[in-house]
Amino acid sequence: MKKDLLSINDLSKTEILEIISLAEKVKKNTRRYKSKLKNNVLLDIFEKPSLRTRLSFEVAMYQLGGHTIYYDLAGSPLGKGKESLEDTAKVVSRYVDVIMARLYSQDDLIKLAKNSSIPVISGLTDYEHPCQILGDLLTIKEKLRKLSNIKIAYFGDAKNNVTHSLIFACSKLNIKLSIACPKEMQPLNSVLKNSRNIEVTQNVNKAIKNANIVYVDSWMSYQIPKSEHTKRVKLLKKYQVNSELMNKAGKALFMHCLPAMRGEEVTSDVIDSRRSIVLDQAGNRLFIQKAILLKLIK
Ligand code: CP
Ligand code: NVA
Repeated sequence: MKKDLLSINDLSKTEILEIISLAEKVKKNTRRYKSKLKNNVLLDIFEKPSLRTRLSFEVAMYQLGGHTIYYDLAGSPLGKGKESLEDTAKVVSRYVDVIMARLYSQDDLIKLAKNSSIPVISGLTDYEHPCQILGDLLTIKEKLRKLSNIKIAYFGDAKNNVTHSLIFACSKLNIKLSIACPKEMQPLNSVLKNSRNIEVTQNVNKAIKNANIVYVDSWMSYQIPKSEHTKRVKLLKKYQVNSELMNKAGKALFMHCLPAMRGEEVTSDVIDSRRSIVLDQAGNRLFIQKAILLKLIK
Protein backbone atom coordinates (compact mmCIF):
# COMPACT_ATOMS: atom_id res chain seq x y z
CA MET A 1 0.00 0.00 0.00
CA LYS A 2 1.24 3.51 -0.74
CA LYS A 3 2.46 5.54 2.23
CA ASP A 4 1.97 9.27 2.75
CA LEU A 5 3.66 11.79 5.04
CA LEU A 6 0.86 14.03 6.27
CA SER A 7 1.63 14.22 9.99
CA ILE A 8 4.49 13.38 12.33
CA ASN A 9 1.86 11.67 14.42
CA ASP A 10 1.43 9.02 11.70
CA LEU A 11 5.06 7.92 12.15
CA SER A 12 6.36 5.57 14.82
CA LYS A 13 9.49 6.37 16.79
CA THR A 14 11.34 3.76 14.72
CA GLU A 15 10.17 5.30 11.45
CA ILE A 16 11.29 8.78 12.55
CA LEU A 17 14.73 7.47 13.51
CA GLU A 18 14.99 5.50 10.24
CA ILE A 19 14.30 8.63 8.16
CA ILE A 20 16.94 10.57 10.12
CA SER A 21 19.44 7.77 9.76
CA LEU A 22 18.83 7.53 5.99
CA ALA A 23 19.28 11.32 5.70
CA GLU A 24 22.65 10.97 7.48
CA LYS A 25 23.71 8.28 5.02
CA VAL A 26 22.60 10.30 2.00
CA LYS A 27 24.44 13.35 3.33
CA LYS A 28 27.66 11.37 3.78
CA ASN A 29 27.50 9.71 0.38
CA THR A 30 25.53 11.86 -2.06
CA ARG A 31 26.92 10.12 -5.16
CA ARG A 32 25.67 6.70 -4.12
CA TYR A 33 22.07 7.90 -4.36
CA LYS A 34 22.35 9.88 -7.58
CA SER A 35 20.24 7.54 -9.73
CA LYS A 36 17.95 6.07 -7.07
CA LEU A 37 14.89 7.96 -8.29
CA LYS A 38 15.73 7.94 -12.00
CA ASN A 39 12.62 8.48 -14.15
CA ASN A 40 10.51 9.43 -11.13
CA VAL A 41 8.54 12.66 -11.22
CA LEU A 42 7.53 14.81 -8.25
CA LEU A 43 4.62 17.22 -8.52
CA ASP A 44 4.91 20.32 -6.32
CA ILE A 45 1.65 22.04 -5.43
CA PHE A 46 1.71 25.30 -3.47
CA GLU A 47 -1.12 27.45 -2.10
CA LYS A 48 1.32 29.49 0.01
CA PRO A 49 4.81 30.97 -0.58
CA SER A 50 8.00 28.98 0.01
CA LEU A 51 11.77 29.27 -0.37
CA ARG A 52 13.23 26.34 1.56
CA THR A 53 10.58 23.67 1.08
CA ARG A 54 10.15 24.25 -2.63
CA LEU A 55 13.86 24.49 -3.47
CA SER A 56 15.04 21.68 -1.20
CA PHE A 57 12.49 19.27 -2.67
CA GLU A 58 13.35 20.28 -6.24
CA VAL A 59 17.09 19.96 -5.68
CA ALA A 60 16.61 16.69 -3.77
CA MET A 61 14.65 15.18 -6.64
CA TYR A 62 17.23 16.39 -9.20
CA GLN A 63 20.17 15.01 -7.21
CA LEU A 64 18.40 11.65 -6.86
CA GLY A 65 18.05 11.42 -10.65
CA GLY A 66 14.37 12.40 -10.81
CA HIS A 67 12.43 15.37 -12.07
CA THR A 68 10.05 17.95 -10.51
CA ILE A 69 7.06 19.78 -11.95
CA TYR A 70 5.95 22.93 -10.16
CA TYR A 71 2.23 23.42 -10.59
CA ASP A 72 0.66 26.79 -9.96
CA LEU A 73 -2.63 26.08 -8.23
CA ALA A 74 -3.97 29.58 -8.71
CA GLY A 75 -4.07 29.11 -12.46
CA SER A 76 -5.33 25.52 -12.40
CA PRO A 77 -8.92 24.31 -12.96
CA LEU A 78 -8.93 23.47 -9.22
CA GLY A 79 -7.78 26.97 -8.26
CA LYS A 80 -10.37 28.52 -10.58
CA GLY A 81 -13.13 26.46 -8.95
CA LYS A 82 -13.66 24.44 -12.14
CA GLU A 83 -12.50 21.05 -10.88
CA SER A 84 -12.69 19.16 -7.60
CA LEU A 85 -9.74 18.24 -5.42
CA GLU A 86 -10.80 14.59 -5.77
CA ASP A 87 -10.67 14.60 -9.59
CA THR A 88 -7.42 16.57 -9.60
CA ALA A 89 -5.81 13.96 -7.32
CA LYS A 90 -7.04 11.04 -9.42
CA VAL A 91 -5.81 12.56 -12.69
CA VAL A 92 -2.44 13.62 -11.31
CA SER A 93 -1.88 10.09 -9.99
CA ARG A 94 -1.86 8.87 -13.62
CA TYR A 95 1.10 11.11 -14.53
CA VAL A 96 3.53 11.49 -11.64
CA ASP A 97 5.04 9.29 -8.91
CA VAL A 98 4.74 11.50 -5.82
CA ILE A 99 3.07 14.76 -4.75
CA MET A 100 4.39 17.35 -2.31
CA ALA A 101 1.68 19.85 -1.36
CA ARG A 102 1.71 23.03 0.73
CA LEU A 103 -1.94 23.76 1.45
CA TYR A 104 -3.84 25.86 3.96
CA SER A 105 -6.07 23.10 5.24
CA GLN A 106 -4.96 19.77 6.70
CA ASP A 107 -8.38 18.36 5.73
CA ASP A 108 -7.71 19.24 2.09
CA LEU A 109 -4.31 17.57 2.33
CA ILE A 110 -5.93 14.42 3.73
CA LYS A 111 -8.53 14.52 0.96
CA LEU A 112 -5.78 14.89 -1.63
CA ALA A 113 -3.97 11.87 -0.21
CA LYS A 114 -7.13 9.76 0.01
CA ASN A 115 -7.88 10.33 -3.64
CA SER A 116 -4.30 9.82 -4.89
CA SER A 117 -2.90 6.40 -5.66
CA ILE A 118 0.63 7.78 -5.18
CA PRO A 119 2.38 9.05 -2.01
CA VAL A 120 1.49 12.55 -0.82
CA ILE A 121 3.91 14.58 1.33
CA SER A 122 2.91 17.58 3.42
CA GLY A 123 4.94 20.67 2.55
CA LEU A 124 3.10 22.42 5.46
CA THR A 125 -0.51 23.15 6.29
CA ASP A 126 -1.93 25.50 8.92
CA TYR A 127 -1.93 22.46 11.25
CA GLU A 128 1.50 20.83 10.79
CA HIS A 129 4.93 20.99 9.14
CA PRO A 130 6.31 17.44 9.41
CA CYS A 131 9.25 17.71 6.97
CA GLN A 132 10.55 20.75 8.85
CA ILE A 133 10.66 18.94 12.16
CA LEU A 134 12.26 15.80 10.71
CA GLY A 135 15.04 18.01 9.30
CA ASP A 136 15.33 19.79 12.65
CA LEU A 137 15.80 16.49 14.47
CA LEU A 138 18.62 15.65 12.06
CA THR A 139 20.25 19.01 12.87
CA ILE A 140 19.81 18.56 16.63
CA LYS A 141 21.33 15.09 16.42
CA GLU A 142 24.33 16.44 14.50
CA LYS A 143 24.90 19.31 16.91
CA LEU A 144 24.23 17.60 20.26
CA ARG A 145 25.29 14.10 19.15
CA LYS A 146 22.11 12.70 20.70
CA LEU A 147 18.35 12.92 20.69
CA SER A 148 17.78 11.63 24.19
CA ASN A 149 18.06 13.44 27.53
CA ILE A 150 17.64 16.82 25.92
CA LYS A 151 15.25 19.71 26.42
CA ILE A 152 13.85 22.01 23.76
CA ALA A 153 12.32 25.36 24.76
CA TYR A 154 9.90 26.94 22.31
CA PHE A 155 8.86 30.61 22.52
CA GLY A 156 6.06 32.50 20.81
CA ASP A 157 3.01 31.56 18.78
CA ALA A 158 2.34 27.95 19.73
CA LYS A 159 -1.02 27.53 18.07
CA ASN A 160 0.83 26.83 14.89
CA ASN A 161 2.02 24.15 12.49
CA VAL A 162 5.68 24.00 13.54
CA THR A 163 4.80 23.76 17.24
CA HIS A 164 2.25 21.03 16.58
CA SER A 165 4.76 18.91 14.66
CA LEU A 166 7.36 19.57 17.36
CA ILE A 167 4.92 18.34 20.03
CA PHE A 168 4.19 15.12 18.11
CA ALA A 169 7.89 14.48 17.48
CA CYS A 170 9.04 15.22 21.04
CA SER A 171 6.28 13.02 22.48
CA LYS A 172 7.33 10.11 20.28
CA LEU A 173 11.06 10.51 20.96
CA ASN A 174 10.73 11.25 24.65
CA ILE A 175 12.28 14.70 24.29
CA LYS A 176 11.34 17.30 26.92
CA LEU A 177 9.58 20.25 25.31
CA SER A 178 8.68 23.40 27.22
CA ILE A 179 6.47 25.85 25.35
CA ALA A 180 6.24 29.45 26.53
CA CYS A 181 3.36 31.23 24.79
CA PRO A 182 0.45 33.58 25.44
CA LYS A 183 -2.72 31.89 26.68
CA GLU A 184 -4.45 32.94 23.45
CA MET A 185 -1.86 31.10 21.35
CA GLN A 186 -1.55 27.72 23.03
CA PRO A 187 -1.27 24.56 20.91
CA LEU A 188 -4.58 22.98 19.92
CA ASN A 189 -6.02 20.60 22.51
CA SER A 190 -6.30 17.87 19.87
CA VAL A 191 -2.49 17.97 19.58
CA LEU A 192 -1.77 18.18 23.30
CA LYS A 193 -4.33 15.51 24.21
CA ASN A 194 -2.12 12.42 24.08
CA SER A 195 1.26 14.14 24.28
CA ARG A 196 4.00 13.29 26.76
CA ASN A 197 6.83 15.40 28.24
CA ILE A 198 5.24 18.63 27.04
CA GLU A 199 4.91 21.66 29.29
CA VAL A 200 2.92 24.75 28.30
CA THR A 201 3.62 27.87 30.34
CA GLN A 202 3.46 31.66 30.29
CA ASN A 203 6.71 31.80 32.23
CA VAL A 204 9.71 32.26 29.93
CA ASN A 205 12.21 31.66 32.75
CA LYS A 206 10.64 28.30 33.51
CA ALA A 207 10.76 27.31 29.84
CA ILE A 208 14.37 28.30 29.26
CA LYS A 209 15.74 26.53 32.34
CA ASN A 210 18.16 23.73 31.35
CA ALA A 211 17.22 24.00 27.66
CA ASN A 212 19.67 22.60 25.11
CA ILE A 213 17.77 24.10 22.19
CA VAL A 214 15.84 27.36 21.96
CA TYR A 215 13.34 27.30 19.11
CA VAL A 216 11.15 30.02 17.61
CA ASP A 217 8.87 30.49 14.63
CA SER A 218 7.47 33.57 12.93
CA TRP A 219 4.77 35.54 14.75
CA MET A 220 3.07 36.11 11.40
CA SER A 221 2.67 32.71 9.75
CA TYR A 222 1.76 32.80 6.06
CA GLN A 223 -2.00 32.54 6.57
CA ILE A 224 -2.24 35.33 9.19
CA PRO A 225 -3.62 38.60 7.77
CA LYS A 226 -1.47 41.74 8.09
CA SER A 227 -4.33 43.43 9.94
CA GLU A 228 -3.53 41.22 12.98
CA HIS A 229 0.10 42.33 13.19
CA THR A 230 -0.18 45.04 15.88
CA LYS A 231 -2.40 42.94 18.14
CA ARG A 232 -0.12 39.90 17.85
CA VAL A 233 3.12 41.81 18.47
CA LYS A 234 1.62 43.18 21.67
CA LEU A 235 0.66 39.70 22.89
CA LEU A 236 3.91 38.05 21.83
CA LYS A 237 6.59 40.58 22.71
CA LYS A 238 7.18 39.05 26.14
CA TYR A 239 8.21 35.83 24.32
CA GLN A 240 10.82 37.39 22.04
CA VAL A 241 14.14 35.55 22.09
CA ASN A 242 16.84 38.16 22.73
CA SER A 243 20.31 37.97 24.23
CA GLU A 244 18.99 38.55 27.74
CA LEU A 245 16.84 35.40 27.47
CA MET A 246 19.54 33.41 25.64
CA ASN A 247 22.00 34.22 28.42
CA LYS A 248 19.73 32.39 30.85
CA ALA A 249 20.07 29.28 28.72
CA GLY A 250 23.72 28.44 29.36
CA LYS A 251 25.06 26.94 26.14
CA ALA A 252 21.73 26.38 24.40
CA LEU A 253 21.71 26.62 20.60
CA PHE A 254 19.22 28.75 18.72
CA MET A 255 16.92 27.35 16.02
CA HIS A 256 14.32 28.95 13.75
CA CYS A 257 12.52 27.24 10.87
CA LEU A 258 12.72 30.53 8.88
CA PRO A 259 11.61 32.87 7.39
CA ALA A 260 12.58 35.11 10.32
CA MET A 261 11.59 38.64 11.19
CA ARG A 262 14.47 40.22 13.11
CA GLY A 263 13.17 42.45 15.90
CA GLU A 264 9.99 40.40 16.33
CA GLU A 265 10.32 36.75 17.41
CA VAL A 266 14.13 37.06 17.61
CA THR A 267 16.69 39.84 17.74
CA SER A 268 19.60 40.09 15.27
CA ASP A 269 22.20 39.60 18.00
CA VAL A 270 20.76 36.11 18.62
CA ILE A 271 19.89 34.85 15.14
CA ASP A 272 23.17 36.13 13.69
CA SER A 273 25.29 34.88 16.60
CA ARG A 274 27.52 31.82 16.86
CA ARG A 275 24.88 30.05 18.89
CA SER A 276 22.46 30.20 16.01
CA ILE A 277 22.29 27.08 13.84
CA VAL A 278 19.51 28.30 11.55
CA LEU A 279 21.51 27.97 8.33
CA ASP A 280 22.60 24.40 9.05
CA GLN A 281 18.97 23.76 9.93
CA ALA A 282 17.79 25.15 6.58
CA GLY A 283 20.58 23.26 4.77
CA ASN A 284 19.51 19.96 6.27
CA ARG A 285 16.07 20.30 4.69
CA LEU A 286 17.73 19.00 1.50
CA PHE A 287 18.97 15.76 3.06
CA ILE A 288 15.80 15.02 4.95
CA GLN A 289 13.70 15.59 1.80
CA LYS A 290 15.91 13.06 0.02
CA ALA A 291 15.38 10.53 2.78
CA ILE A 292 11.61 11.11 2.76
CA LEU A 293 11.41 10.70 -1.03
CA LEU A 294 13.52 7.54 -0.92
CA LYS A 295 11.36 6.04 1.82
CA LEU A 296 8.03 6.80 0.13
CA ILE A 297 8.74 6.11 -3.54
CA LYS A 298 8.87 2.38 -4.20
N1 CP B 1 10.87 26.66 6.81
C1 CP B 1 10.16 26.63 5.67
O1 CP B 1 9.36 25.73 5.41
O2 CP B 1 10.46 27.63 4.81
P1 CP B 1 9.68 27.99 3.49
O3 CP B 1 8.37 28.59 3.87
O4 CP B 1 10.57 28.98 2.77
O5 CP B 1 9.49 26.74 2.67
N1 NVA C 1 4.53 28.83 10.98
C1 NVA C 1 5.13 29.27 9.75
C2 NVA C 1 6.13 28.28 9.27
C3 NVA C 1 6.86 28.71 8.02
C4 NVA C 1 7.80 27.70 7.53
C5 NVA C 1 4.06 29.50 8.72
O1 NVA C 1 3.13 28.70 8.63
O2 NVA C 1 4.18 30.46 7.98
